[in-house]
Amino acid sequence: MISSLVYLLPLYPLAALAALEVDFNSKDSIKQAAAQVAEDLLTYYHGDEPGQIPGILPGPPPDGGAYYWWEGGAMWGALLDYWHWTGDDTFNNLTYQGLLFQAGPNKDFVNNNWSFSLGNDDQAFWAMSSLIAAETNFEDPPPKEAQWLALAQAVWNEQTDSRLRDGGCGFGLRWQAVSLNPGFSYKNTIANGCFFNIGARLARYTKNDTYTDWSARTWDWLVDVKYIDKDWNVYDGADISNNCTIIVKQQFSYNAAILLQGAAYMYNYVWLDRIDGLLDGIERIFFIKGVAYEPACEGGVCTADMLTYKGFLHRWMAYTAQLAPTTRSRIMRLTMSSAKAAVAQCTGGDNGRQCGFHWTSGKFDGLLGAGQQMNVLGVLSALLALDSTAPVTNGTGGTSTGNPNAGSDRSPYIEFSAITTGDRAGAGILTVAAITLASASLWWMIK
Ligand SMILES: *[C@@H]1O[C@H](CO)[C@@H](O)[C@H](O)[C@H]1NC(C)=O
Ligand SMILES: *[C@@H]1O[C@H](CO)[C@@H](O)[C@H](O)[C@H]1NC(C)=O
Ligand SMILES: *[C@@H]1O[C@H](CO)[C@@H](O)[C@H](O)[C@H]1NC(C)=O
Ligand SMILES: *[C@@H]1O[C@H](CO)[C@@H](O)[C@H](O)[C@H]1NC(C)=O
Ligand SMILES: *[C@@H]1O[C@H](CO)[C@@H](O)[C@H](O)[C@H]1NC(C)=O
Repeated sequence: MISSLVYLLPLYPLAALAALEVDFNSKDSIKQAAAQVAEDLLTYYHGDEPGQIPGILPGPPPDGGAYYWWEGGAMWGALLDYWHWTGDDTFNNLTYQGLLFQAGPNKDFVNNNWSFSLGNDDQAFWAMSSLIAAETNFEDPPPKEAQWLALAQAVWNEQTDSRLRDGGCGFGLRWQAVSLNPGFSYKNTIANGCFFNIGARLARYTKNDTYTDWSARTWDWLVDVKYIDKDWNVYDGADISNNCTIIVKQQFSYNAAILLQGAAYMYNYVWLDRIDGLLDGIERIFFIKGVAYEPACEGGVCTADMLTYKGFLHRWMAYTAQLAPTTRSRIMRLTMSSAKAAVAQCTGGDNGRQCGFHWTSGKFDGLLGAGQQMNVLGVLSALLALDSTAPVTNGTGGTSTGNPNAGSDRSPYIEFSAITTGDRAGAGILTVAAITLASASLWWMIK
């Protein structure tokens, strides 16, 4: 024991932990730092190890691990953007395997293991990652396997099912797909925002106006129920028991950002007004002095889900900059200032360079996690987005095979309506929003 101490003491300075460091004037330096953040992110992933399930992060809570099923899907999206924007393909094989493994027997990102957490938004996060694969010409699977574009079309078709929409508040999509899940009676912005976003991207990729129509209608509905208000606040949702009139006024950055990105795909004169409006709201609510901030939870406790939102915010802003050129200087200014603050607090973990969540504080907050790494990976790779090609379409070299009818004969609603009570224990993204509806309104009253 004594001798090891003797060795440890003098050795310690040599092994000094290096905080994450970036020279923001150098693209190579940004890439290098992003690679380190990605490497640290992958330490949370074990799906490629014997006996583990490919595609998912350890979970679901409370017993299996910190992460719900959707977050694995979201991680592959972050890594696809990382690859596309930096050129580093280190994680492409894992991404390919992870996405395909979770595609499910019907090639629609539904499988029995995760029915208890099958929010429409959860399924949609996998579809959006699959869409990135199509839009970046990521390696196409062999014809017998699921195809990136068709997977997204399957999810979209399933979510047009009226049984996921009827029952109150008009046209909008329910949060949960499974009637027994808590949250089936909640109609929220993220489920509808994801559907809007996927539709906008399918419309651009395939030039099929059916998608455009549904996306435009979804936007109109969000305005009609006042989840998007005239000041570009974007609220969380409401319950059908009050016909969606008592709105849960929590604001999360990913809600505004998913609409922003979708609007950028719909880009034309009408949509440019909305893009600018959403950006006004986003800068006002989710940035403090140019640094990303999550107001609904950052002063208190953010759930593992909420700890991922800053990465989406920055990546979806980057897509917007790419697709709607007039937003570029504003978005890249915010991205740069936010990235600098993000990196400054990456001094945690065993290697001294892992990141926390409180970017505005300038100090590592002591909490490590996959979400925290995904966020910093997102903002660093977003800095390089404008150097890469815009998302491709079927008409500009995209090779992914589609199937406009995929999923149209299926509904997760029917097939899972008989799940057991045990399965209900958890639910997907923002379960906590439903559970804390009461405390949320209280929070807003206090504020
Ligand atoms: C991916 O896997 C294939 C076959 O297993 C291998 O040939 C290829 O080099 C791998 N690519 C990367 C980037 O690791
Ligand atoms: C479902 O769970 C079983 C048992 O843990 C596992 O073997 C299988 O790989 C899982 N499938 C998916 C798609 O997650
Ligand atoms: C319920 O809300 C929808 C959407 O705003 C509206 O179209 C409908 O008229 C409302 N129904 C009732 C009974 O108020
Ligand atoms: C996509 O492009 C291919 C050839 O480039 C064409 O055969 C196919 O019909 C197109 N699909 C759609 C949906 O436009
Ligand atoms: C356009 O999309 C709709 C909805 O999925 C589908 O029913 C229709 O067949 C598609 N049209 C074409 C030309 O692919």
